[in-house]
Amino acid sequence: MTTYVQRMFEGRTAFVTGGGSGINQRIAERLAEQGANVALVGRTQSKLDAVAEGIKAAGGKAAGFAADVRDYDALVRSVAAAHEQFGAIGMVICGAAGNFPALANAMSANAFKSVIDIDLLGTFNTCRAAYDHLELPGASIVTISAPQAVQAMVMQSHVCAAKAGVDMLTKTLALEWGPLGVRVNGVIPGAVADTEGMDRLAPAGPIREALARQMPLRRVATKDDIADMVIFLCSDAAKYVTGAIIPCDGGMTTAGMAIQTPRPPSRPG
Ligand code: COA
Repeated sequence: MTTYVQRMFEGRTAFVTGGGSGINQRIAERLAEQGANVALVGRTQSKLDAVAEGIKAAGGKAAGFAADVRDYDALVRSVAAAHEQFGAIGMVICGAAGNFPALANAMSANAFKSVIDIDLLGTFNTCRAAYDHLELPGASIVTISAPQAVQAMVMQSHVCAAKAGVDMLTKTLALEWGPLGVRVNGVIPGAVADTEGMDRLAPAGPIREALARQMPLRRVATKDDIADMVIFLCSDAAKYVTGAIIPCDGGMTTAGMAIQTPRPPSRPG
């Protein structure tokens, strides 16, 4: 009997922002495992190069195209270069995000704006820049949201506002680009182990252990849990799914859970 392995994304191109580290790096690696040519986007070329080298050493195809997602013109250059090198963009993963825990009254207007600019404007910029290079029909866009989009959290006013915006942007693009054969969906990762965001919001130790105990599935996520969901949304198995914002969070948002940050809210002075 002949056996063969067909890789899902052979010959197609994925454009992954935030691909230089964390969840998005793992998503990029998993897309490459499935045959995709991966264009990694982030602020630091050396970080992207290191991830690309790892993918190539494992037999995949990848290259870094540095851009800050806040800089639309830089993204336009990156996506054009990725198209030139690898072909039309079949998958766009809008993963770049910024976060720091801070009470609203301890934040400057510029601090709030910095997260809105990275998460919300950055997602728009990525989708808009990629639009002119998308594989039509058939492209799949996945935005990376957060529990903060649906669950208010102390010290996260900037992220809550930004990610709620990302979800509505996702749904709107699904309406506008669906007729072209472009699917646009979002993933809400819950608390994910071994990420910078988790280390900031729920440092290892009693806070994180308590968090895991409260999860309906009694553990925090792995990066692979999230990458699996993204792979599903990019695959033909999800060919009739668009405009969906899917929690991949062990039941965290269903349970109405919010990560409780170490410091309680207080008035200054
Ligand atoms: N509390 C309050 N304000 C803060 C802050 C904190 N912990 N951290 C940054 N800010 C403010 C800064 O003071 C600045 O405001 P100001 O101009 O009024 O002083 C504003 O936020 C922008 O700061 P800056 O350092 O210039 O940020 P940046 O635009 O270069 O980058 C982030 C912003 C979010 C990317 C940065 O905080 C960062 O590098 N975070 C870690 C990486 C990360 O977020 N990874 C993703 C995890 S999900």
